Amino acid sequence: MAMEPQLTPLIESLPSTVPFVGPETLERKRNRPFRARLGANENGFGPAPSVISAMRDAAPDVWKYCDPENFDLKAALAAHLAAAPGAIAPGNVVVGEGVDTLLGLTVRQYVREGTPVVTSLGAYPTFNFHVAGFGGRLVTVPYRNDHEDLDALLDAVRREKAPLVYFSNPDNPMGTWHEAPEIEAFIAALPETTMLILDEAYGETAPASALPAIDISRPNVLRMRTFSKAYGLAGMRCGYAIGAASQITAFDKIRNHFGMNRMVQIAALAALEDQNYLREVVARIIAGRDRIAAIAAQNGLAAIPSATNFVTIDCGRDGAYAANILNGLIERDIFVRKPMAPMLDRCIRVSVGLDEELDLFEEKLAETLAALK
Ligand SMILES: Cc1ncc(COP(=O)(O)O)c(C=O)c1O
Repeated sequence: MAMEPQLTPLIESLPSTVPFVGPETLERKRNRPFRARLGANENGFGPAPSVISAMRDAAPDVWKYCDPENFDLKAALAAHLAAAPGAIAPGNVVVGEGVDTLLGLTVRQYVREGTPVVTSLGAYPTFNFHVAGFGGRLVTVPYRNDHEDLDALLDAVRREKAPLVYFSNPDNPMGTWHEAPEIEAFIAALPETTMLILDEAYGETAPASALPAIDISRPNVLRMRTFSKAYGLAGMRCGYAIGAASQITAFDKIRNHFGMNRMVQIAALAALEDQNYLREVVARIIAGRDRIAAIAAQNGLAAIPSATNFVTIDCGRDGAYAANILNGLIERDIFVRKPMAPMLDRCIRVSVGLDEELDLFEEKLAETLAALK
């Protein structure tokens, strides 16, 4: 029998899968492009013109490696995030290829085979993907009233003595959020030996009251944010984590030092500098949310209040019915997604998009529902 290189038993045991089926995959399968791209919580308004022009100016220099320390971007982020000058140092910030990458690096720091890791059932699947990749044991707690259940997460952490818990605020896939005092109480109650990943990928589109003040004196909290959503740079891949310097240093031991390419460093810096554009886009996102909610209502469906750049719509029946609506929309060239976990699966999830995309969604949702009658 021919010999072949032996994978580790862990890698051998993993399914070869990606957490999300991309719209490009679906388009290849369908042999037809989508007419509205409303499924991946991207930001169709795009990055600021100032960002595009900074990238254009930077293009001839891509023969140079990037700064492996991400020095300028980390300094700018520290200054931007600090409530008072100097309150957050560059050493409290790590930059990575999207929150997704930082999630993987964090899991690697705390998880070995069999380690219990707590999250909500149906929460962000990329986190679960990384836990599986390092052999961790996922412990999930159901949502309560379409919100992540902080009390149940805490109970599970204590029961399992879990070194890592994941919580996203605002939440994906439901779009719901908790107010800062609830999160602060959760953090205060958390065992000191448990690291909390507080994923704030949608922080910029949330009410300020949902974001606790950043406290870098707590060694067991990592706040994660991204340029993928409100800043409109999903394809560039740039996220960051903020935390105690001792914890942030751990990332430098394992991160891919040239992972942040030169162009993305420049794009993120320029995006951060253009806060006026960010404010405009957030206003457009909020208007888009209202529009999606109105479209839902007009069709007899209920939008769940959202603090993100998407709206989750309760289709009012079971998961099979919501799946039929999703499929009907996809057949009609509208890319949307849906939550899959029990209780949440009665919904579809629609990202804010350009007016013309929402026009199409409006038309095709009504058609789909009529066809299902
Ligand atoms: C909760 C949550 N975290 C992280 C991400 C991914 O962020 P990034 O593009 O920075 O990897 C997403 C994107 O959908 C998300 O919904």
